[in-house]
Amino acid sequence: MKKVFPVNLSAILTALGGRHAMQQLLDVGPSAISNYLTRGQLPQRAKPIIYAALTAKGYQLRPDDLEIIAGPAAITPHTVSAENHAGPRILLIIAGGIAAYKALEVARQLQQLGAHVTGVMTDSAKQFITPLSLAALTGEKCYDSLFSLTDEAEMGHIRLARSADLVLVVPATASFMARANAGIADDLATTILLATTAKVVMAPAMNPVMWAHQATQSNFASLRQRGVEMIGPVSGDTACGEEGEGRMCEPAMIAAAAMRLIPTYAARDEADKDSGAGTSRSLSGKHILITSGPTIEPIDKVRFIANRSSGKQGHAIATALANRGANVTLVSGPVTEPAPANVTLVNVTTAAEMLAACDAALPADIAICAAAVADWRVKAAADEKLKKPENPDAGMTLELCQNPDILATLSAAPNRPKLVIGFAAETENLLENAAAKRRRKGCDWIIANQVGGEDDPVFGSALNQAMLLTSDSVEEWPRMQKTELAEKLADQIEAEYSS
Ligand code: CTP
Repeated sequence: MKKVFPVNLSAILTALGGRHAMQQLLDVGPSAISNYLTRGQLPQRAKPIIYAALTAKGYQLRPDDLEIIAGPAAITPHTVSAENHAGPRILLIIAGGIAAYKALEVARQLQQLGAHVTGVMTDSAKQFITPLSLAALTGEKCYDSLFSLTDEAEMGHIRLARSADLVLVVPATASFMARANAGIADDLATTILLATTAKVVMAPAMNPVMWAHQATQSNFASLRQRGVEMIGPVSGDTACGEEGEGRMCEPAMIAAAAMRLIPTYAARDEADKDSGAGTSRSLSGKHILITSGPTIEPIDKVRFIANRSSGKQGHAIATALANRGANVTLVSGPVTEPAPANVTLVNVTTAAEMLAACDAALPADIAICAAAVADWRVKAAADEKLKKPENPDAGMTLELCQNPDILATLSAAPNRPKLVIGFAAETENLLENAAAKRRRKGCDWIIANQVGGEDDPVFGSALNQAMLLTSDSVEEWPRMQKTELAEKLADQIEAEYSS
């Protein structure tokens, strides 16, 4: 016969074995228990924990019975408390920049990847989004004050800082990075940075001129040197209407990169993947960066220079490698190909954006450059549509400058992926040109295709015909589907790693 339970706070305390037992159960300090007793209320997050503990002790009650002693209802009914959550715990600090609204999407993506997210907002972040919107998404209280009696009683700032497996700052504004670099602890967010022992990761976002400023660059370099991991920024349109480096990375990329930076999670993830029955997880734990599609370089507001590319081959490679358990970051120019499943897709437009996204995605074990990057861009693209001259015979001259070579840059990067693979699209002397290109760009392997012939099977087609060149071998592959070529390349990569 079950024991019937009188629902009031002191009865609960007694039933659970006293103040100390409740402290341990809820993982709070003694002052929090005093606070609960004074208010006669428990925080909402305590309800499922207490319900589970009481029923385990044989008391008869329904979850709703605890409603009268629980505080205001949590915002989402499916709240899972940090204590009960099996995934990594991420403290998401939102600083005050226009990109703050994207932090909500980062929180959502992190939750989808299995993380438990607790939000912290600076005062200036609250000018852009409200703590309520973050709390609604995470189902957790959003912390925003260093001097809140209630918060300190329930979860002191030191314990908040220590409760995390990772502290992620999105967006990291110029001012926030400056305060973090100087060790200023004048609000909850910056105090957490000093008090935490977990890895700190920042996703900078700001106006390009502010980003380029010496002060910001020096803060960025110094934080990085101290072990803070940086995700981005990348080049592109910024919220202030100016274009250049300073744009925050896309939320999906930030979330995926943050998860990769949690060592225990990465190890557990790998173990989980290795136990996946029926699927080959041979590349589990490998981070593979792939570029795909064309880049588009503006001439003016409506016209552009681009290379021909459907993105079919790069996307097929991303799919093949993700299916083998790799953690794939796909940086793609504009294509109509659907986004492959289980990859982190970063959409870019120009070569400069593609390079910045690749740089932000490092470190990686393997890089595969399948993108058809435009070799040139217009030196000074016009902000408005250029008008044709009246005279139909008048010519038009565009001054072009060279785009960065992404493959060569990755091959020479200080944190170079162990295996760098490029493509060579050649119209003539396929073997000689491809071999020279491999050496010139410093990559390990190059996949050479003949293009532009009468029966060119490459551009836009589902077929491809290629040769694989390494430093000491050439392997000719028959004409095959791009998806088959992707599997063949994945086989080669697997063989390389198993040998
Ligand atoms: N590539 C790159 N960045 C560039 C140009 C090319 O990463 N700015 C990469 C491509 O993704 C591919 C390889 O370099 O993996 C070769 O590209 P290809 O177009 O064949 O060569 P180019 O460098 O353009 O050389 P060329 O035009 O002289 O043949």
